[in-house]
Amino acid sequence: MTAKIIDGKQVAADIRAELKDEVAGLAKQGIVPGLGVILVGDDPASHSYVTAKERACEELGIYSEDNRLPAETTQDELMALVGKMNADPRINGILVQLPLPKHMNESEVLFGIDPAKDVDGFHPVSVGKMVVGEETFLSCTPHGVLHLLLRSGVTIEGSHVVIVGRSNIVGKPLANMLVQKSSTGNATVTVCHTRTKDLAEHTRQADILVAAVGRPNTITADMVQDGVAVIDVGVNRVDDATKKRGYRLVGDVDFEAVKEKASLITPVPGGVGPMTITMLMVNTVESAKRAAGIG
Ligand code: GUN
Repeated sequence: MTAKIIDGKQVAADIRAELKDEVAGLAKQGIVPGLGVILVGDDPASHSYVTAKERACEELGIYSEDNRLPAETTQDELMALVGKMNADPRINGILVQLPLPKHMNESEVLFGIDPAKDVDGFHPVSVGKMVVGEETFLSCTPHGVLHLLLRSGVTIEGSHVVIVGRSNIVGKPLANMLVQKSSTGNATVTVCHTRTKDLAEHTRQADILVAAVGRPNTITADMVQDGVAVIDVGVNRVDDATKKRGYRLVGDVDFEAVKEKASLITPVPGGVGPMTITMLMVNTVESAKRAAGIG
């Protein structure tokens, strides 16, 4: 079997086209959704993610405010900026790009964001609501994975989903979303991590396999069963002298080999990545509607 390649760019473009119409409709009512972005330090990958988020805002007609701060920024200065954005009515969503520099207390920053503007879904109030199945902002990457599965026609209910990686950004929230008693959940979920004994024994049982560890070639062809649907969340830079920039991006999955056994697979780049930014836009528009009392 050779897998169908899930085109995340296309799925994201479809959702963004719907969203653009919605933003245009809101503009007629005088409502312009706004996203406040904060990036501390000079991590090149973070800078390119934030640039892509700002471009997406521009493309959709969402107001965005760019705050790129030096690595030496203090915790107090960052908290003050978050507080300012919490109080700013033009800002409906606040995004603090992670990771923060080592001297900063990430939890304090994320907990300082008004949950009503927590479009990343990282605040404990948002996480808690998600776990108990209440409506809230869902974290963008796992929410994007869910939409990719749904729009690709993958059956989630009753499927065995194996997630490799237990981060707060992807593995843990995705496991919670898929296990919910709901029309987009009802899966049986296994979460694997660095202390899992015999990873391959688990991954071979997956109907849907999600790799989110941040290490190339973590999932090889011998670790999957025929017909599996594979979602590769990893984004890793590997040296490549044939590229002008000296590297290329790969996921966590050995794409070329695994695609020969899978029924569906996402590429890197062009799979989950475009969905993450799109779900951030979806959450920002949703927040603006709630703030205007029409959500
Ligand atoms: N760093 C990696 N992924 C994310 C994300 O989804 N949101 C934020 N804020 N930072 C990230």
